[in-house]
Amino acid sequence: MRKPYLAGNWKMNLDRASSLALAGALREHVGQRNDVEVAVAPPFVYLPAVVEALEGSPIRVGSQNMCDQAKGAFTGEVSGAMLRDVGATFAILGHSERRHVYGEPDALVNAKVHHALEVGLDVILCVGETIEEREAGETEKVVRRHLTEGLAGVDGLSKITIAYEPVWAIGTGLNATPEQAGEVHTYLRGVLEGLFGERAAETTRIQYGGSVKPGNIAELMAVDGVDGALVGGASLEAESFAGIVDFDK
Ligand code: PGA
Repeated sequence: MRKPYLAGNWKMNLDRASSLALAGALREHVGQRNDVEVAVAPPFVYLPAVVEALEGSPIRVGSQNMCDQAKGAFTGEVSGAMLRDVGATFAILGHSERRHVYGEPDALVNAKVHHALEVGLDVILCVGETIEEREAGETEKVVRRHLTEGLAGVDGLSKITIAYEPVWAIGTGLNATPEQAGEVHTYLRGVLEGLFGERAAETTRIQYGGSVKPGNIAELMAVDGVDGALVGGASLEAESFAGIVDFDK
């Protein structure tokens, strides 16, 4: 049984006060619920304050990105060890904005995955096709490459969650239909099975991401193989993220 995993990616939004207000409201809403896993990924600079605000809450706090190196002359970067040091427990890696806006290739994403696992961070590895790739019939090829290269050399999946995020659905208001999500999630689980075996594939959660809202989360979660969501815009307000966390209520 895969526990539903709802994660909010705050991206480069909010400020210190609104981050803390949001964390506080979510803390209250989630209480000690343990039938779902809830997580937030604030901007780096607010991460320590959000960790503190959520102490004692089951809500997990992680980063939106991370350097692939442990330390040294990497101006502007933040290492996994630093993230662990301030209380982060996971990192989102390979997000489409990292891949497409900042040009991160699969090999770099893979190096980050290795570094995260080495320092004890869990990983949400994002995969997904652009609209051009979908229209060219390359969706499966692209997500297979993201998965295979992103996870190259990784021993097992116990610390890994996959997020399927079609690039055309991110921040556009245009979510994948349940059928589209279902097709790709099934395909991804098959790829995981080929790489890591049936048990690992069956226990690994695959989130859907891209314009998830309170109004569409229930139909997406009803799809076989959709185990949660990675939420951008709708995670920035307590009420809408709460509506997503409560997808089955
Ligand atoms: P969105 O972003 O929910 O605003 O579409 C999702 C994501 O990029 O993780």
